[in-house]
Amino acid sequence: MVKVCVCGAAGGIGQPLSLLLKQSERITHLSLYDIVNTPGVAADLSHINTKSKVTGHVGPEQLKDAIQDSAVVVIPAGVPRKPGMTRDDLFKINAGIVRDLATAAAKYAPKAFMCIISNPVNSTVPIVAEVFKQHNVYDPRRIFGVTTLDIVRASTFVSELIGDEPSKLQVPVVGGHSGVTILPLLSQVTNKLTQDQIEKVTHRIQFGGDEVVKAKNGAGSATLSMAFAGARFALAVIDAAFAGKDIVECTYINLEADQNGAKAVKDLVGGDVPYFSVPVKLGKNGVERVLPIGSISPYEKQLFTKAASELKGNIAKGTNFVAGSKL
Ligand code: NAD
Ligand code: LMR
Repeated sequence: MVKVCVCGAAGGIGQPLSLLLKQSERITHLSLYDIVNTPGVAADLSHINTKSKVTGHVGPEQLKDAIQDSAVVVIPAGVPRKPGMTRDDLFKINAGIVRDLATAAAKYAPKAFMCIISNPVNSTVPIVAEVFKQHNVYDPRRIFGVTTLDIVRASTFVSELIGDEPSKLQVPVVGGHSGVTILPLLSQVTNKLTQDQIEKVTHRIQFGGDEVVKAKNGAGSATLSMAFAGARFALAVIDAAFAGKDIVECTYINLEADQNGAKAVKDLVGGDVPYFSVPVKLGKNGVERVLPIGSISPYEKQLFTKAASELKGNIAKGTNFVAGSKL
């Protein structure tokens, strides 16, 4: 039995993400939770002739049923950006939403793999971790910030420049998920780019979200590419945990997930940063191993240093929010 609960399932990401998950033969129950419209979305998806049962749940009184015994909880619930906003501007609304969903997960699905999409990811992942700690069910190997869209973008944008097949070009992207905290490791992928191209494409990857926010002109942020990326990540977690597949993905985690995790990052950023997106080997308990970030160029080293201070602030904001909340 692999029950997957999507929280925010009626939204711009939630609907196409649920559609992509409905295509998986490994998922037996797709549970759709939102504060609006999930009965309709569930009825619609339930006509697709794949294995999973689909159920729709609306509003806090149905959250327990939605989430109970889920193996995976994917959270794209909350508000998206409008032009001129940063992801951190979403904290005021999304922090409470994520905290409450994490509380339900800690009570009713404490072993679930938690895949957090809601922004600001740099802060919402620490929120989920702190809630799980308060309920004494914390396992850092099972809580993931989904940064896969940065990796998908990096592969697209770099292959546009060097002409490789984008789906085969893997560009590791580490750090966090906002602006300068997004750290693409282009030096590990190609030597075909000039320094000017490296700087331009690095900036494009770091601010790719803004490109979509601007183009949507007030109608939200990336939804379809995020659904693609979110499904890729959730299915990777499922394939590794329930089908024993050998999978490596970059994801934003608490580095306590592996005893070597903190060291791998400390040497590169020159200090302690408790959460970081790193390449991880996934397995039956989530993070099996944090893999080395590998060598970085002097230009990338400067980017790491810039990222560290912003990340630390974002992490502290999430952690302190739960410390100040009554659960
Ligand atoms: P949206 O407004 O289209 O959908 C959000 C959904 O969340 C809505 O259906 C809404 O009803 C629901 N919701 C609100 N409060 C809820 C609650 N308490 N419980 C359950 N559901 C609730 O927004 P979207 O475009 O789907 O974006 C969702 C989030 O994902 C935003 O925070 C956005 O910034 C983030 N995002 C993250 C990434 C990433 O790479 N991690 C990429 C794109 C967007
Ligand atoms: C993205 O990277 O597209 C998302 O984080 C949404 C945003 O606000 O940019």
